[in-house]
Amino acid sequence: MSNPSDPAKPDATGMRRNLAQYGDAEFSVFLRKAFIKALGYTDDALERPVIGIVDTRSGYNACHQNVPDLIEAVSRGVMLSGGIPVAFPVISIQESFASPTSMYLRNLMAIDTEEMIRAQPMDAVVLIGGCDKTVPALLMGAISANVPAILLVTGPMLAGSWRGERLGACTDCRRYWAQYRGGAIDAAAIAAVNDELAPTVGTCSVMGTASTMALAAEALGMMLPGGAAIPAVLAARRRHAEQTGTRAVALAAQGLTPDRIVTPASITNALRTMLAVGGSTNALIHLTAIAGRAGIRVDLDGFDRLGRETPVLVDLKPTGQGYMEDLHRAGGLLPILRALKPMLSLDCLTVTGRTLGAELEAGDAPFRQPVVRPLAQPVYASGAMVVLRGNLAPDGAVIKQCAADQGLLQHTGPALVFADLADLAARIDDEALPVTPDTVLVLQNAGPKGAPGMPEAGYLPIPKKLMREGVKDMVRISDARMSGTAFGTIVLHVSPEAAAGGPLALVRTGDMIRLDTAGRRIDVLLDDDTLAARRRELPASERAPAAARGYRRLWDNEVLQADGGCDFTSFVPPAVATAPVV
Ligand code: FES
Ligand code: MG
Repeated sequence: MSNPSDPAKPDATGMRRNLAQYGDAEFSVFLRKAFIKALGYTDDALERPVIGIVDTRSGYNACHQNVPDLIEAVSRGVMLSGGIPVAFPVISIQESFASPTSMYLRNLMAIDTEEMIRAQPMDAVVLIGGCDKTVPALLMGAISANVPAILLVTGPMLAGSWRGERLGACTDCRRYWAQYRGGAIDAAAIAAVNDELAPTVGTCSVMGTASTMALAAEALGMMLPGGAAIPAVLAARRRHAEQTGTRAVALAAQGLTPDRIVTPASITNALRTMLAVGGSTNALIHLTAIAGRAGIRVDLDGFDRLGRETPVLVDLKPTGQGYMEDLHRAGGLLPILRALKPMLSLDCLTVTGRTLGAELEAGDAPFRQPVVRPLAQPVYASGAMVVLRGNLAPDGAVIKQCAADQGLLQHTGPALVFADLADLAARIDDEALPVTPDTVLVLQNAGPKGAPGMPEAGYLPIPKKLMREGVKDMVRISDARMSGTAFGTIVLHVSPEAAAGGPLALVRTGDMIRLDTAGRRIDVLLDDDTLAARRRELPASERAPAAARGYRRLWDNEVLQADGGCDFTSFVPPAVATAPVV
């Protein structure tokens, strides 16, 4: 397999193998060969580049059910190009089946990915992911391991249909559930809707976190062009997988490592893409974590400036109307990048070994399509997301203004405070709740440490009694996240979080809160003395205690706030650069 005299050096094929040692290097290779031959490989098979393939199929993960098919196609591409494919497992995370939250497990998957890439001999690795947390986790791990790596996503689901109307996970999950809560549709109807929300394997079919991360990762340069939007069940996805395998062998030969691809300029391209697609707020946290692994700090104020000049161009739910299959038919990411071209750094290297600019030149000719708009006719002109600061969020908060009731973006109203998720669940539908459409719903202790795991609880439900009156949106504020598929005037990621002593912990029911989206502010209208007095009265238990042992202890001690991407302190190298660069 390797150069037995020095396994750290490339062998006769030019490949580098990270061999574990038994003191005697030659014996070490001898032993490994014996075990790999037990798998049925011949010497001829082993004198080739080894391409690891990360297998993230799990019986719990519908979003990854096509992974075995994709591994087969990747393996074919690897073998056609003279390499030998070796699939290996890492943990798999599905949004709906991850407790306490999927975010809590993302860093664990990143650790697993990094160490398995490091531990096993491979010259390049194909990362197969799709569901929300898996793409960030795989990229975080691969960047830290810094072995040549290429990403392949499982691809979006097709849309379903109910009574002639198209629907899909999970914007329509929420829309129909809200109708059911408000009494507009009955139990039989909501059950029929449930059958159609996730009609195929693959990732959620709207511009949620999975779709956003797939497109951002392609813009980052970590995926072959055209790969982000191909639906999971199309033959085109398998062909793309085969090409990914072929390319992985070339990546190995060229030694093209992630540190040459993930740079401040390519992170900026990814952040801009996320804004232009009207993407999920979660993607900001994930891209911050991904950049962090490469020693790049994402500056929130710089990100806000990027937002001011990057309109939403893609007409997909929850901001617009379509589904990912529509974006695929419209050409996928290519027309989006073409529209953004004057704002992109075109000299960024991609996994193709060519620059992003060269790939845009080489892509299919543009054609008329209704999904991706030109810069001059955006779906939403003022930028998908806004960074807020103020006495409620000294380290920042985020609002997805393109998915909000535009009339609520400037709003002052009285707070109704829920101390945590249990309090919210117990009282939100109480008929005696002191709430009007002007009320600002505040949720505390749902941040990275508080819940723990920063659940997608920021989309506080509209109280039933208001829902029956037809109220569809209210201002809501929390230190939580929100699903990328949700819609509403929702301030998220308030940092520092309540459980870490952030000022959100000081808010009481009846305080006046002002959301000034245009002015980039979120404030509670109290003077500093009142806030200081309340801070002194805070019970010590407001500070989350570290768990006694295990992963939870690691989480409690290490997790960074949202503005640090919720990564673990010990896994982030010192920042040597900042993004965005403009
Ligand atoms: Fe996996 Fe939505 S639940 S992508
Ligand atoms: Mg999601």
